[in-house]
Amino acid sequence: MFGLVKNIAQKLNPNTVKEKQVAAVQAAAKAREKIGAGQFGTVYALGDGLVQKELPIEYKNKVLMEANLQDVGARLGISPSIHAVATGPMSAFGTTLPMETGLNPRVQGQIEMQDLRPTHASYHDYVQSNPAKAQAVDLKTHQQLAQLALQNTNLSDRHPGNIMVNQVTGRPSQLDYGLATRINNDVEKIANLTLHVANGFGSAGLDEEGQIFMATVTDLLVNKQDLVNAMDVAKQGLAMLQKIKQPVILKPDYVVPDPPAGMMNPNVVIGDSDAQAVRDADQLIINKLKKEFNSQSSAQWTDV
Ligand SMILES: Nc1ncnc2c1ncn2[C@@H]1O[C@H](COP(=O)(O)OP(=O)(O)OP(=O)(O)O)[C@@H](O)[C@H]1O
Ligand SMILES: [Mg+2]
Repeated sequence: MFGLVKNIAQKLNPNTVKEKQVAAVQAAAKAREKIGAGQFGTVYALGDGLVQKELPIEYKNKVLMEANLQDVGARLGISPSIHAVATGPMSAFGTTLPMETGLNPRVQGQIEMQDLRPTHASYHDYVQSNPAKAQAVDLKTHQQLAQLALQNTNLSDRHPGNIMVNQVTGRPSQLDYGLATRINNDVEKIANLTLHVANGFGSAGLDEEGQIFMATVTDLLVNKQDLVNAMDVAKQGLAMLQKIKQPVILKPDYVVPDPPAGMMNPNVVIGDSDAQAVRDADQLIINKLKKEFNSQSSAQWTDV
Protein backbone atom coordinates (compact mmCIF):
# COMPACT_ATOMS: atom_id res chain seq x y z
CA MET A 1 0.00 0.00 0.00
CA PHE A 2 2.67 2.41 1.07
CA GLY A 3 4.72 1.38 -1.95
CA LEU A 4 1.80 2.16 -4.27
CA VAL A 5 1.30 5.68 -2.87
CA LYS A 6 4.98 6.35 -3.26
CA ASN A 7 4.80 5.11 -6.78
CA ILE A 8 1.87 7.35 -7.71
CA ALA A 9 3.51 10.32 -6.03
CA GLN A 10 6.66 9.69 -8.02
CA LYS A 11 4.72 9.43 -11.24
CA LEU A 12 3.01 12.73 -10.64
CA ASN A 13 6.06 14.54 -9.36
CA PRO A 14 6.35 17.55 -11.69
CA ASN A 15 10.13 17.32 -11.67
CA THR A 16 10.04 13.72 -12.86
CA VAL A 17 7.52 14.62 -15.55
CA LYS A 18 9.74 17.48 -16.69
CA GLU A 19 12.83 15.28 -16.72
CA LYS A 20 10.99 12.77 -18.88
CA GLN A 21 9.87 15.46 -21.27
CA VAL A 22 13.37 16.80 -21.54
CA ALA A 23 14.72 13.30 -22.14
CA ALA A 24 12.09 12.72 -24.84
CA VAL A 25 12.98 15.97 -26.58
CA GLN A 26 16.66 15.09 -26.39
CA ALA A 27 16.04 11.61 -27.77
CA ALA A 28 13.97 13.08 -30.61
CA ALA A 29 16.76 15.56 -31.34
CA LYS A 30 19.30 12.74 -31.45
CA ALA A 31 17.09 10.75 -33.79
CA ARG A 32 16.94 13.59 -36.28
CA GLU A 33 19.05 13.09 -39.33
CA LYS A 34 21.87 15.59 -39.33
CA ILE A 35 22.64 16.65 -42.88
CA GLY A 36 25.06 19.50 -42.43
CA ALA A 37 26.89 21.67 -39.97
CA GLY A 38 28.93 24.81 -40.12
CA GLN A 39 30.47 27.15 -37.65
CA PHE A 40 27.25 28.31 -36.01
CA GLY A 41 24.45 26.05 -37.09
CA THR A 42 23.44 22.44 -37.59
CA VAL A 43 20.98 21.38 -40.25
CA TYR A 44 18.58 18.46 -39.74
CA ALA A 45 16.17 16.70 -42.10
CA LEU A 46 12.59 17.10 -40.92
CA GLY A 47 10.86 15.02 -43.58
CA ASP A 48 7.98 16.31 -45.71
CA GLY A 49 10.39 18.22 -47.91
CA LEU A 50 11.74 20.35 -45.09
CA VAL A 51 14.99 20.84 -43.23
CA GLN A 52 15.63 22.72 -40.02
CA LYS A 53 18.66 24.86 -39.36
CA GLU A 54 19.28 25.04 -35.65
CA LEU A 55 21.28 27.87 -34.14
CA PRO A 56 21.89 26.93 -30.48
CA ILE A 57 23.31 30.27 -29.35
CA GLU A 58 22.52 33.32 -31.36
CA TYR A 59 21.30 36.85 -30.85
CA LYS A 60 17.60 36.99 -31.52
CA ASN A 61 17.81 39.72 -34.12
CA LYS A 62 20.50 37.77 -36.00
CA VAL A 63 18.25 34.72 -36.35
CA LEU A 64 15.41 36.91 -37.59
CA MET A 65 17.75 38.83 -39.87
CA GLU A 66 19.09 35.58 -41.40
CA ALA A 67 15.57 34.35 -42.10
CA ASN A 68 14.40 37.69 -43.48
CA LEU A 69 17.36 38.07 -45.80
CA GLN A 70 17.09 34.47 -47.03
CA ASP A 71 13.46 35.24 -47.76
CA VAL A 72 14.63 37.96 -50.17
CA GLY A 73 16.58 35.26 -52.03
CA ALA A 74 13.68 32.82 -51.84
CA ARG A 75 11.40 35.37 -53.47
CA LEU A 76 13.92 35.75 -56.27
CA GLY A 77 13.87 31.96 -56.64
CA ILE A 78 17.54 31.59 -55.76
CA SER A 79 17.36 30.23 -52.19
CA PRO A 80 15.28 27.66 -50.28
CA SER A 81 11.90 29.00 -49.26
CA ILE A 82 11.40 29.72 -45.56
CA HIS A 83 8.55 27.86 -43.91
CA ALA A 84 8.86 28.81 -40.26
CA VAL A 85 11.14 30.57 -37.81
CA ALA A 86 11.16 29.94 -34.08
CA THR A 87 13.21 31.35 -31.24
CA GLY A 88 13.26 30.36 -27.59
CA PRO A 89 15.40 30.31 -24.49
CA MET A 90 18.69 28.45 -24.72
CA SER A 91 19.09 25.12 -23.00
CA ALA A 92 22.09 23.14 -21.86
CA PHE A 93 22.39 19.67 -20.31
CA GLY A 94 18.62 19.28 -20.32
CA THR A 95 18.02 22.53 -18.47
CA THR A 96 16.29 25.49 -20.00
CA LEU A 97 18.21 28.61 -19.14
CA PRO A 98 16.43 31.78 -18.08
CA MET A 99 15.89 34.25 -20.89
CA GLU A 100 18.45 37.01 -21.00
CA THR A 101 16.98 40.42 -20.40
CA GLY A 102 17.28 43.26 -22.83
CA LEU A 103 16.19 44.02 -26.35
CA ASN A 104 18.29 41.45 -28.12
CA PRO A 105 18.81 38.39 -25.92
CA ARG A 106 20.71 35.31 -26.93
CA VAL A 107 18.34 32.54 -27.89
CA GLN A 108 18.23 29.22 -29.62
CA GLY A 109 16.67 29.62 -33.02
CA GLN A 110 15.29 27.32 -35.66
CA ILE A 111 14.74 28.13 -39.31
CA GLU A 112 12.60 25.65 -41.21
CA MET A 113 13.06 25.70 -44.94
CA GLN A 114 12.67 23.79 -48.17
CA ASP A 115 14.87 20.67 -48.45
CA LEU A 116 16.90 21.04 -51.63
CA ARG A 117 18.29 17.50 -51.64
CA PRO A 118 15.64 15.92 -53.87
CA THR A 119 16.64 18.21 -56.74
CA HIS A 120 20.05 19.64 -55.86
CA ALA A 121 23.57 18.27 -55.40
CA SER A 122 26.35 19.88 -53.42
CA TYR A 123 28.57 22.28 -55.38
CA HIS A 124 31.44 19.77 -55.37
CA ASP A 125 29.32 16.80 -56.38
CA TYR A 126 27.88 18.74 -59.28
CA VAL A 127 31.06 20.40 -60.49
CA GLN A 128 33.34 17.39 -59.89
CA SER A 129 36.44 19.49 -60.58
CA ASN A 130 35.20 20.10 -64.12
CA PRO A 131 36.36 23.65 -64.96
CA ALA A 132 33.60 24.26 -67.52
CA LYS A 133 30.93 23.32 -65.01
CA ALA A 134 32.52 25.46 -62.29
CA GLN A 135 32.60 28.42 -64.65
CA ALA A 136 28.92 27.97 -65.50
CA VAL A 137 27.83 27.65 -61.87
CA ASP A 138 29.99 30.58 -60.76
CA LEU A 139 28.63 32.76 -63.58
CA LYS A 140 25.08 32.08 -62.38
CA THR A 141 26.07 32.60 -58.76
CA HIS A 142 27.46 36.04 -59.57
CA GLN A 143 24.29 36.88 -61.48
CA GLN A 144 22.26 35.86 -58.43
CA LEU A 145 24.44 37.84 -56.02
CA ALA A 146 24.06 40.92 -58.22
CA GLN A 147 20.28 40.43 -58.26
CA LEU A 148 20.37 40.26 -54.46
CA ALA A 149 22.42 43.47 -54.35
CA LEU A 150 19.72 45.12 -56.44
CA GLN A 151 17.31 44.09 -53.67
CA ASN A 152 19.59 45.71 -51.07
CA THR A 153 20.94 42.39 -49.80
CA ASN A 154 24.66 41.71 -49.44
CA LEU A 155 25.30 37.98 -49.47
CA SER A 156 28.92 37.02 -48.86
CA ASP A 157 30.59 33.86 -47.53
CA ARG A 158 30.12 31.98 -50.81
CA HIS A 159 32.25 28.89 -50.28
CA PRO A 160 31.12 25.62 -51.89
CA GLY A 161 29.39 24.47 -48.68
CA ASN A 162 26.94 27.32 -49.06
CA ILE A 163 25.91 26.56 -52.63
CA MET A 164 23.88 23.64 -53.98
CA VAL A 165 23.20 23.07 -57.67
CA ASN A 166 20.09 21.85 -59.46
CA GLN A 167 21.14 18.61 -61.10
CA VAL A 168 18.93 19.06 -64.14
CA THR A 169 19.26 22.75 -64.90
CA GLY A 170 22.72 23.44 -63.40
CA ARG A 171 21.24 26.45 -61.62
CA PRO A 172 22.79 27.18 -58.20
CA SER A 173 20.83 27.84 -55.02
CA GLN A 174 22.33 30.06 -52.36
CA LEU A 175 22.26 28.75 -48.78
CA ASP A 176 23.35 30.25 -45.48
CA TYR A 177 22.47 33.88 -44.98
CA GLY A 178 24.24 33.79 -41.61
CA LEU A 179 26.63 36.54 -42.66
CA ALA A 180 24.26 38.39 -44.99
CA THR A 181 23.63 42.05 -44.32
CA ARG A 182 21.19 44.64 -45.51
CA ILE A 183 22.60 47.26 -47.88
CA ASN A 184 21.86 50.66 -46.41
CA ASN A 185 23.10 53.16 -48.91
CA ASP A 186 23.80 53.72 -52.58
CA VAL A 187 27.58 53.52 -52.36
CA GLU A 188 27.40 50.08 -50.81
CA LYS A 189 24.85 49.04 -53.41
CA ILE A 190 26.95 50.24 -56.34
CA ALA A 191 30.06 48.58 -54.89
CA ASN A 192 28.19 45.29 -54.44
CA LEU A 193 26.62 45.33 -57.86
CA THR A 194 29.90 46.23 -59.52
CA LEU A 195 31.88 43.54 -57.78
CA HIS A 196 29.44 40.76 -58.64
CA VAL A 197 28.94 41.91 -62.22
CA ALA A 198 32.70 42.16 -62.77
CA ASN A 199 33.21 38.71 -61.23
CA GLY A 200 30.37 37.39 -63.38
CA PHE A 201 32.09 38.61 -66.54
CA GLY A 202 35.22 36.87 -65.27
CA SER A 203 33.37 33.58 -64.87
CA ALA A 204 31.93 34.00 -68.36
CA GLY A 205 35.53 34.15 -69.58
CA LEU A 206 35.25 37.86 -70.35
CA ASP A 207 37.95 39.12 -67.98
CA GLU A 208 38.78 42.20 -69.95
CA GLU A 209 35.15 43.32 -70.15
CA GLY A 210 34.90 42.77 -66.39
CA GLN A 211 37.98 44.88 -65.73
CA ILE A 212 36.82 47.71 -68.00
CA PHE A 213 33.41 47.69 -66.36
CA MET A 214 34.95 47.76 -62.87
CA ALA A 215 37.29 50.61 -63.83
CA THR A 216 34.44 52.62 -65.37
CA VAL A 217 32.22 52.42 -62.31
CA THR A 218 35.12 53.01 -59.94
CA ASP A 219 36.08 56.16 -61.86
CA LEU A 220 32.50 57.49 -61.72
CA LEU A 221 32.14 56.59 -58.06
CA VAL A 222 35.52 57.52 -56.64
CA ASN A 223 36.99 60.18 -58.90
CA LYS A 224 33.89 61.86 -60.24
CA GLN A 225 31.71 61.29 -57.17
CA ASP A 226 28.84 60.76 -59.58
CA LEU A 227 26.51 58.38 -57.78
CA VAL A 228 23.71 58.66 -60.31
CA ASN A 229 25.78 57.61 -63.29
CA ALA A 230 27.78 55.06 -61.32
CA MET A 231 24.51 53.36 -60.34
CA ASP A 232 23.25 53.60 -63.89
CA VAL A 233 26.35 52.00 -65.39
CA ALA A 234 26.37 49.31 -62.67
CA LYS A 235 22.77 48.40 -63.52
CA GLN A 236 23.53 48.40 -67.24
CA GLY A 237 26.39 46.01 -66.53
CA LEU A 238 24.01 43.72 -64.69
CA ALA A 239 21.54 43.84 -67.60
CA MET A 240 24.35 42.76 -69.93
CA LEU A 241 25.52 40.02 -67.59
CA GLN A 242 22.00 38.61 -67.21
CA LYS A 243 21.87 37.99 -70.96
CA ILE A 244 24.85 35.64 -70.79
CA LYS A 245 23.43 32.15 -70.31
CA GLN A 246 26.65 30.14 -70.48
CA PRO A 247 30.36 31.03 -70.28
CA VAL A 248 31.45 32.60 -73.57
CA ILE A 249 35.11 31.60 -73.35
CA LEU A 250 36.05 28.45 -71.47
CA LYS A 251 39.20 28.63 -69.37
CA PRO A 252 40.80 25.18 -69.25
CA ASP A 253 42.65 26.01 -66.04
CA TYR A 254 39.58 27.43 -64.32
CA VAL A 255 38.89 25.55 -61.10
CA VAL A 256 37.74 28.07 -58.57
CA PRO A 257 38.27 31.81 -58.85
CA ASP A 258 40.99 33.15 -56.60
CA PRO A 259 40.82 36.37 -54.65
CA PRO A 260 40.31 39.23 -55.39
CA ALA A 261 37.19 37.62 -56.80
CA GLY A 262 37.01 36.00 -53.38
CA MET A 263 34.51 33.40 -54.44
CA MET A 264 34.26 29.76 -53.53
CA ASN A 265 37.23 29.78 -51.25
CA PRO A 266 37.44 26.68 -49.12
CA ASN A 267 35.54 26.95 -45.91
CA VAL A 268 38.15 28.69 -43.84
CA VAL A 269 37.37 28.43 -40.18
CA ILE A 270 37.21 31.76 -38.41
CA GLY A 271 37.74 32.33 -34.76
CA ASP A 272 35.43 35.25 -34.17
CA SER A 273 33.32 37.75 -36.01
CA ASP A 274 36.23 40.20 -36.29
CA ALA A 275 38.02 37.68 -38.46
CA GLN A 276 35.16 37.65 -40.92
CA ALA A 277 36.83 40.19 -43.19
CA VAL A 278 39.83 37.91 -43.53
CA ARG A 279 37.87 35.16 -45.24
CA ASP A 280 35.73 37.50 -47.19
CA ALA A 281 37.76 39.00 -49.98
CA ASP A 282 34.59 40.32 -51.64
CA GLN A 283 33.76 42.38 -48.61
CA LEU A 284 37.27 43.79 -48.55
CA ILE A 285 36.85 45.09 -52.08
CA ILE A 286 33.47 46.59 -51.26
CA ASN A 287 34.90 48.25 -48.16
CA LYS A 288 37.84 49.60 -50.14
CA LEU A 289 35.53 51.16 -52.73
CA LYS A 290 33.42 52.71 -49.99
CA LYS A 291 36.49 54.04 -48.23
CA GLU A 292 37.91 55.52 -51.40
CA PHE A 293 34.57 57.14 -52.13
CA ASN A 294 34.40 58.58 -48.65
CA SER A 295 37.93 59.91 -48.71
CA GLN A 296 37.07 61.94 -51.81
CA SER A 297 33.60 62.84 -50.76
CA SER A 298 31.94 65.67 -48.98
CA ALA A 299 28.59 64.39 -50.21
CA GLN A 300 26.18 62.52 -48.00
CA TRP A 301 25.36 58.92 -48.77
CA THR A 302 21.88 58.40 -50.09
CA ASP A 303 19.92 55.87 -48.14
CA VAL A 304 18.20 53.21 -50.20
N1 LIG B 1 17.76 23.85 -47.50
C1 LIG B 1 18.68 22.90 -47.49
N2 LIG B 1 18.48 21.74 -48.17
C2 LIG B 1 19.43 20.78 -48.14
N3 LIG B 1 20.59 20.86 -47.48
C3 LIG B 1 20.85 21.97 -46.78
C4 LIG B 1 19.90 23.04 -46.74
N4 LIG B 1 20.40 24.01 -45.96
C5 LIG B 1 21.60 23.58 -45.53
N5 LIG B 1 21.88 22.36 -46.02
C6 LIG B 1 23.09 21.56 -45.75
O1 LIG B 1 23.60 21.94 -44.48
C7 LIG B 1 24.91 22.50 -44.59
C8 LIG B 1 25.08 23.65 -43.59
O2 LIG B 1 24.09 24.65 -43.84
P1 LIG B 1 24.41 26.19 -43.61
O3 LIG B 1 25.58 26.56 -44.44
O4 LIG B 1 23.16 26.96 -43.77
O5 LIG B 1 24.76 26.16 -42.07
P2 LIG B 1 26.05 26.69 -41.33
O6 LIG B 1 27.24 26.71 -42.22
O7 LIG B 1 26.11 25.98 -40.06
O8 LIG B 1 25.59 28.14 -41.09
P3 LIG B 1 26.42 29.27 -40.41
O9 LIG B 1 27.51 29.61 -41.39
O10 LIG B 1 25.37 30.31 -40.20
O11 LIG B 1 26.97 28.67 -39.19
C9 LIG B 1 25.03 22.93 -46.05
O12 LIG B 1 26.38 22.88 -46.48
C10 LIG B 1 24.17 21.88 -46.75
O13 LIG B 1 24.92 20.71 -46.99
MG1 LIG C 1 27.50 27.42 -44.16
